[in-house]
Amino acid sequence: MAEARIIDGKTIAAELRGRVAAAVTELNKIHKLQPGLAVVLVGEDPASHVYVASKAKHTMEAGMRSIEHRLPADTSEAQLLALIAHLNDDPDIDGILVQLPLPKHIDSNKVIEAINPAKDVDGFHPINVGRLATGERALVPCTPLGSIILAKTVRPDLNGLEAVVVGRSNIVGKPVTQLLLRENCTVTIAHSRTRDLPGVVRRADLVIAAVGQPQMVKGDWIKPGAIVIDVGINRIPKGDGKTRLVGDVDFDSAKAVAGAITPVPGGVGLMTVACLLRNTVEAACILRGLTVPAM
Ligand code: GUN
Repeated sequence: MAEARIIDGKTIAAELRGRVAAAVTELNKIHKLQPGLAVVLVGEDPASHVYVASKAKHTMEAGMRSIEHRLPADTSEAQLLALIAHLNDDPDIDGILVQLPLPKHIDSNKVIEAINPAKDVDGFHPINVGRLATGERALVPCTPLGSIILAKTVRPDLNGLEAVVVGRSNIVGKPVTQLLLRENCTVTIAHSRTRDLPGVVRRADLVIAAVGQPQMVKGDWIKPGAIVIDVGINRIPKGDGKTRLVGDVDFDSAKAVAGAITPVPGGVGLMTVACLLRNTVEAACILRGLTVPAM
């Protein structure tokens, strides 16, 4: 069997950002609307600083406004909640993203629930989680959305496929399951307590790996020809004192079996920011009663 097609997240994300930028240009021309995204970062987590910088850069490149709030690690929960209340009320802010993880003294759930659901571009607010689950219009979490878009570049119609999601997080596993159901897949959620995990994954026409365990999903767990979407981003030692990024899938063995597979880096990661931009445009339109443009 031929090696898997490598799903080019870099190009697909750039195309999505291009469609978002075109939509922003139109909104600006017709409605004098320039969507604004507020990103709130608390503390000094180095990875979070890199992500937030990338979000700001791409937001501006898409023609939108980026408003960054970098707060010290000792910011109190009350101070953060006060900032969110302010952003909720600010008519120039269309999207609010609070970068996770938050420092331990702050209750993340309380913070997420304080965000106006209409501005919740992460799709983490219980209102959006519930709307996604009931099939109503919702702001959808960015990484799950990006994962589905990538899978559909290989197979536009996912109808009837056996999908196995490895991982049950609120950020990826659970929401991607809802999106797969919306695509009429038969979905299994596997996790650390699943019996015979390799056997379960081997049933899948579509594997979504989101466990946070470096290279856990092996090639001999993959059904020949399956689509493999690797959501993991793990830093592992390279042996020479340096590190490298790997996914939750053992890429080299899996690509020999899969029909199509996302690389790490260069796969799902880039889609997350592109979908965030998309969600910001969607939020801006819905807040103003405008039709959401196709993106
Ligand atoms: N930290 C890691 N991924 C995410 C994400 O998708 N959204 C937010 N807010 N924080 C994150």
